[in-house]
Amino acid sequence: MKILITGGAGFIGSAVVRLILSHTEHRVINLDALTYAGNLESIPIAEHPCHCFCHEDIRNFEALRSVFEIHQPDAVMHLAAESHVDRSIDGPAEFVQTNIVGTYNILEVSREYWQGLDDNRKKTFRFHHISTDEVYGDLGEKGLFTETTAYDPSSPYSASKASSDHLVRAWHRTYGLPVLVTNCSNNYGPYHFPEKLIPLMILNAISGKPLPVYGDGCQVRDWLYVEDHARALLKVVCDGIVGETYNIGGFNERRNIEVVREICGVLEELAPDKPDGVSQYEDLITFVKDRPGHDIRYAIDARKIQVELGWQPLETFETGIRKTVQWFLENKTWWQRIQSGAYQGQRLGLGVQNRSKHQ
Ligand SMILES: NC(=O)c1ccc[n+]([C@@H]2O[C@H](COP(=O)([O-])OP(=O)(O)OC[C@H]3O[C@@H](n4cnc5c(N)ncnc54)[C@H](O)[C@@H]3O)[C@@H](O)[C@H]2O)c1
Repeated sequence: MKILITGGAGFIGSAVVRLILSHTEHRVINLDALTYAGNLESIPIAEHPCHCFCHEDIRNFEALRSVFEIHQPDAVMHLAAESHVDRSIDGPAEFVQTNIVGTYNILEVSREYWQGLDDNRKKTFRFHHISTDEVYGDLGEKGLFTETTAYDPSSPYSASKASSDHLVRAWHRTYGLPVLVTNCSNNYGPYHFPEKLIPLMILNAISGKPLPVYGDGCQVRDWLYVEDHARALLKVVCDGIVGETYNIGGFNERRNIEVVREICGVLEELAPDKPDGVSQYEDLITFVKDRPGHDIRYAIDARKIQVELGWQPLETFETGIRKTVQWFLENKTWWQRIQSGAYQGQRLGLGVQNRSKHQ
């Protein structure tokens, strides 16, 4: 297959691209605007003959049209998005433009293209939309999100993703576009942009900076190692049933404070030489003002994809977090180059400023 991947230079997209190039014979058309979150250094095999990079923006309808015309994809995996909740609180406009209008653009261009295909290619074409469990909102103490849980998004980010999910399903029901939707829990792993919880904690700890935990740190997230997610996505685009939704999760519920303590524990072992003045990494934990509208708990019921498509996560949280810490310790050049650029690990998401442009 020739797979058009949007957002293939981002955290999850690059894991999908690395997986496809190293384990399959599919060809990848990687379409990415290279915002602050996109980084081609996350694809060390970018020179692979089956990888073609298109520096384009999904907000540009005509540019998308010409990418389809030139490359004639067999499937689309749509991951391009503004993805950080805190950024969506400070500047929601970008989220509406990229996540909603951008998704509309790629859907509409896909529909136009799909309608012009011959019958065989029309039958096998797939549009796979990659979304989040945050569309379901806050779960409360008990229960799990299933594929039929009603949508109830809380943040501008999750509302924009919910909106894009609705568009994708409408393009299936109204026009028959062969779509698949996946909703996944929080990912972590190699090449994770340093503003997200897990990399931020690792990098702050090894430089002796405070480890800021929002509120009381009791918010629960269900963590999935990014390479397990990438395998699930490939499975869905190849074997998923058209029109279906699959929830993807790791069965790894953890309170945020537990995640931070786990990271500190692994660092004690893997990086025992601590910065001056730090006797225990855990001493760096600092509780800070909570995020506005912060959801208390997300947890995914991933049985459908397990039973119907035979996908299983390979990593537990313990094995995945150890690999992740190790990766960040061994790949300083990757994250130091990001840190020396625009993003400096500053606190985002208090809703105090309006960011209209990427930094
Ligand atoms: N990170 C998670 O834990 C998680 C969990 C579930 C679902 N998701 C979803 O998976 C997808 C990928 O998430 P991620 O964590 O890799 O995000 P990311 O922020 O790391 O990467 C997003 C990528 O999209 C690109 N992009 C942004 N705006 C664009 C535009 N207008 N045109 C073209 N490219 C653009 C960026 O340059 C970047 O490479 C998103 O749709 C997100 O909603 C993420």
